[in-house]
Amino acid sequence: MYTDTHAHLQEESLNDSLDKVLARAQAAQVSTIMCIGYDRDSSQEAVQLARKYPQIYAVVGIHPHDAKELDQDTLALLYKLAQDPKVVAIGEIGLDFYRDLSPRDQQRKAFVEQIKLAQELGKPIVIHDRDAHQEVLDTIRREKAGINGGIMHCYSGHLPLAIDLMKEGFHISFAGPVSFKNARKTKEVAAHIPLDRILIETDCPYLAPEPLRGKPNEPANVVYVAQALAELRRKPVEEIAYLTSRNAAQVYRLQ
Ligand code: NI
Repeated sequence: MYTDTHAHLQEESLNDSLDKVLARAQAAQVSTIMCIGYDRDSSQEAVQLARKYPQIYAVVGIHPHDAKELDQDTLALLYKLAQDPKVVAIGEIGLDFYRDLSPRDQQRKAFVEQIKLAQELGKPIVIHDRDAHQEVLDTIRREKAGINGGIMHCYSGHLPLAIDLMKEGFHISFAGPVSFKNARKTKEVAAHIPLDRILIETDCPYLAPEPLRGKPNEPANVVYVAQALAELRRKPVEEIAYLTSRNAAQVYRLQ
């Protein structure tokens, strides 16, 4: 059984009906899916999906792209949503200095406020970091953001940074890019970090893995991410499925 630790199953993300997407996931033995919010609406929708489907869990938060949306009212909404037992983390939160869709100061403020919210709730966090590696690490250290654990989603940094992040209590999650032929740096990280810190995800509808690169993505395809890891680690794919599902259950504290 596989766990897709990071998927966007909200209505506007899907290329097909949700029931068909979930049926294909089940047929591919993807038994658990974390549906990740990125703004107010998608966070609310993630919780609705988690209430409806036993295999879906929700993560609620405001993405750095939408950091300008984070006011007191939104923080109160996230707090309220997080009372649902199927909300397993706060995310995705972080810094994106590649696209800079919200001003950097607002990104920093939203990141720290949501770290504090997660600490108040005693929940792990899911981090989006693009071209902001050093500042994300500095913020994590300053705020003790890994105190309840957390996930570096779609990891794109190098190995020494991954080691520093693991020391802060984080798990490292790999998406489609680990299967790309030219992803030398990401493959190197995936080949070397401890197996008890590795997670897999699709980040669907984005980042379809090989051999589906460029096509719409969905949770069933997390199997290809697992296969890429199995090749790098020279392990049977069943073992990667087992280990990454076990790690996901630990970090998200399922049951
Ligand atoms: Ni995402």
